[in-house]
Formats: sequence, C-alpha cells, structure tokens
Amino acid sequence: MSKPQDQTPQGVPYLSLQKEYKELRDEWMQAIDGAGASGAFILGPNVRAFEEEAAAYIGAKHAIAVASGTDALVLSLRALGIGPGDEVITTPFTFFATAEAVSLVGATPVFADVEIGSFNIDPASVAARITDKTRAILPVHIFGNPADMTRLNSLARGHGLHIIEDAAQAFGAQHSGQRAGSMGDCGCFSFYPTKVLGCYGDGGLITTSSDEVKARLIQLRNHGATRPFIHAEAGYNSRLDEIQAALLRIKLRDIEKAIAARRQVASWYDEMLSGLDLVTPKPAVNGRHAYNLYTIRHPRRDALRERLNACKIGNSQCYPQPLHLQTVYAELGYKEGDLPVAEALCYETLSLPIFPDLSRAQVAHVCEQVAEV
Ligand SMILES: Cc1ncc(COP(=O)(O)O)c(C=O)c1O
Repeated sequence: MSKPQDQTPQGVPYLSLQKEYKELRDEWMQAIDGAGASGAFILGPNVRAFEEEAAAYIGAKHAIAVASGTDALVLSLRALGIGPGDEVITTPFTFFATAEAVSLVGATPVFADVEIGSFNIDPASVAARITDKTRAILPVHIFGNPADMTRLNSLARGHGLHIIEDAAQAFGAQHSGQRAGSMGDCGCFSFYPTKVLGCYGDGGLITTSSDEVKARLIQLRNHGATRPFIHAEAGYNSRLDEIQAALLRIKLRDIEKAIAARRQVASWYDEMLSGLDLVTPKPAVNGRHAYNLYTIRHPRRDALRERLNACKIGNSQCYPQPLHLQTVYAELGYKEGDLPVAEALCYETLSLPIFPDLSRAQVAHVCEQVAEV
C-alpha cells in the first residue's frame, strides 16, 4: 500500500512544452524538410507568409520579422529616429530588455511608476515625467495584461510623442477590442519559447501601420542594406529563419485555443485562491489578459516561494529588482523609494506555473500549497 505522500502529485513544472511538441512535431518536421529542400533558409517564403498572417491577426498594416524581442525594440527605436540626447519613458517593472533597448540606441530611459492593480505603467506618473527631451513612451503589457493605451495614446498625441508597445508577453491580448501591437507607432513581440506565441529558438516581430517605418525596419534588419551589398546605414543582422517561421505559422493557426487554455488555467487559480489573503491578477478593464504569466502578490512572498520550492512547484520572481535600482542605471541617480509601487511589487510578487496544458488537478495542488503558507 502506498504511503500518503506517494499520492501527492510529483511537483508541477513552471512551464512544460512537451505535450505541445509531440502534437506539432510531425507537421513541423515536414515544414523543415520543405524549407531544406527549397534551399531558402532565412527570410524565405515561410517568413513572408508568417509576417502577413501575424499582421492580419494583430490588426496592423505591416509586420516585420526579426531575430528577437530585444531586436524588435532596438530596431523600432532606431526606425523612429530615437537616439542620443532623447528620453524614453518606460516602466521599471519589466524584463531588462525593455530599458536595455533604449540604452542600446544611445537614448536615456526615464522610469515612471506602475499601477498597483494592473502592474502596468501609470499614465499619471508618465505625464509627470515628460520633458522637452522626451521622444517616446514605451509601455509594456506586463505578463500579458494590456496597459491603458487609451490614456497613454492621448498623452502621446498631446505632446507629439511616439508610442512603442512592448508586447513581448502579450500576443493576442486586447485593449478595448484592439490587439496588443496595433495601438502604437510600433508593436514589439518576442517569440522566446516561454511566450504566449513562442518558437523553439529566438525570434521577434515588429508591427507598424507606417509604410515609411516598415521600409526603414526592413533595411535595418539586414545590415542597413538598400539592395544586395549596398548599405545606406549601419544596421543589424536580425533576420528570422525559415525553421522558426514555419513553427510560428503552425502555432499561430491555433493561438486562440492556446490563449483560451491559459485563460482557463487563470480562472481556476482565481477560483481556488479566492478565499485567501493574497492579491490575484487584476485584468485591465476593457482588456483581454493573455496570461503569459499568472503573478500573485503577498507580503510573505519569500515564505511562499520556499514552500513551493520544497514541493518542487515551479515558480519565478518576476521581477526581483526594479530597473531604476539596477547597478547598470546607478548613474541615473534613482534611489529606493522613488518609485514605491514598482519596488513593492518586486518584493511581493510571485509567478505561478501557467501554460496551456496545465491541468485543473495541478492547479489545485499549487493552490493547496499556497494556502498552507
Ligand atoms: C517585456 C519583455 N520585453 C522584451 C523581451 C525581450 O525579448 P527576447 O528575449 O526575445 O529578446 C522580453 C523577453 O523576455 C520581455 O519579457
């Protein structure tokens, strides 16, 4: 007879793509074989088709595939003419790549605080930081929850600023019926494997409605070339390959199903954690959360984390240190207490396992352990 502890599920992974891979494998292998036989390995027919299909899904005029989400941000900033001497207002509660891209083009990131409920950049805090050097606002749809684009766009219009959406975590998220990536001058996506739409390697995409910006992005992603071996500017090697594009096309076909499954997992968490003294994610009003991550907040976050680790339940501290307090930005002169909401979130939030194939029983097991703490 088994002992009680043997009946406990064997931990819960933070992310598992094994079932998905088994289901997609045959179709993807066929597509890879086709790409190999055709001899078009980079920026070939699958990349072009994926760009068209992604633009149609997102609701943008153009989509330009690049090598990563970080490149999507860097190239967008360059294409909009942002560089040394310019300021870009962004959030400190995000993955480093958001602000890193601003630094990489020689501009200065200016950090605004975030909203306690949505974890997204607070438009009032943005407004207070606009100067005559500000050129753009760079909101992040954090964890898949859309930022308040209505207020941010009206701020941007009022001050003649660009908006670059960091939609790396928000493929398929919506604000007032519009998809993430269709509401600013440029929308930037990452296809890192953990994302809502992920490939099995690195990849990224930029959306834009401007023909001019599109032309510049196409030039920048391929060494600034206007035609083979003729270079108008120093650009990047940032091209998506056919193997990743073929997979992205297959996964894009069923992306609504994948998002619905994530939302189902999130609703199980909402239901099972509802009686507890902790804060569950607050989807934006008028928004559709894509639940790239399911992130809760509790003052005893570290105790919670220890418990989950002891039970082999995957979890992540997204993010342990706000960007304005990172050593790399010491010279910008921020100090603890400057952006109190973002700082509190870094000390109190914890991301729980979420992916389309997570079962209700696994969610129940995670919630039981959370409840114990
Ligand atoms: C909010 C955000 N921005 C940018 C990036 C960078 O994307 P990539 O890893 O594809 O370069 C990520 C990816 O982790 C992200 O989460």
